[in-house]
Amino acid sequence: MSKVTEIKHPLVLHKLAYIRDKNTGAKEFRELVHEVSMLIAYEVTRDLQLEEVDIETPIQWTKCKTLAGKKIAVVPILRAGLGMVDGVLTLIPAAKVGHIGLYRDEETLEPVEYFCKLPVDIQERDVIVTDPMLATGGSAADALTMLKAKGAKNIKLMCLIAAPEGIKKVMDTHPDVDIFVAAIDERLNEHGYIVPGLGDAGDRLYGTK
Ligand code: PRP
Ligand code: URA
Repeated sequence: MSKVTEIKHPLVLHKLAYIRDKNTGAKEFRELVHEVSMLIAYEVTRDLQLEEVDIETPIQWTKCKTLAGKKIAVVPILRAGLGMVDGVLTLIPAAKVGHIGLYRDEETLEPVEYFCKLPVDIQERDVIVTDPMLATGGSAADALTMLKAKGAKNIKLMCLIAAPEGIKKVMDTHPDVDIFVAAIDERLNEHGYIVPGLGDAGDRLYGTK
């Protein structure tokens, strides 16, 4: 069953408050999303494999641990997931980046696929999927299905805000995928928006409304 981690760190909660604020403009919104993504990525990467190395300090030789070098791919769900990529890459700069294009039909709330370009060796990589909003969960569930169809196995999903409905959808359809979120909100409204949420993440990131 998926493990759900809600990051309750004070820095995350502080920044998330300003991300939610409707008076926060696109520039500051983008910066805050970048910073919070970095903090969530810290948790997402907590179980990266390590290997022992011998290091000579100015005092003596000692055994240390460094990353074992497992390959990682970051895969944003376009558009809004793009806003989280640089935060993750700040911590793991060697990761490759794939892109999955999905938008939610405003009437049916069903995801519509329009793009998929992944690293050729995606099946060998640990995959971190980014999307700020997990609402009905339809987009995330479809993106995870697309990734698995291309051979991806070890996948984690990182979001800023999730509705209980979206978490349930991912847990039901992809129980092998762990979910990391900054906050789990109350519910969805009649238009499928997360309440209280932050509004439309893509529009707020790119100033399109
Ligand atoms: C938003 C968000 C998710 C999706 C969540 O994208 O970034 O991808 O909605 O909703 P769901 O869980 O109900 O599927 P949107 O479809 O607005 O596209 P955009 O990122 O291009 O704005
Ligand atoms: N997509 C968003 O951008 N915001 C929501 O609240 C729900 C879906």
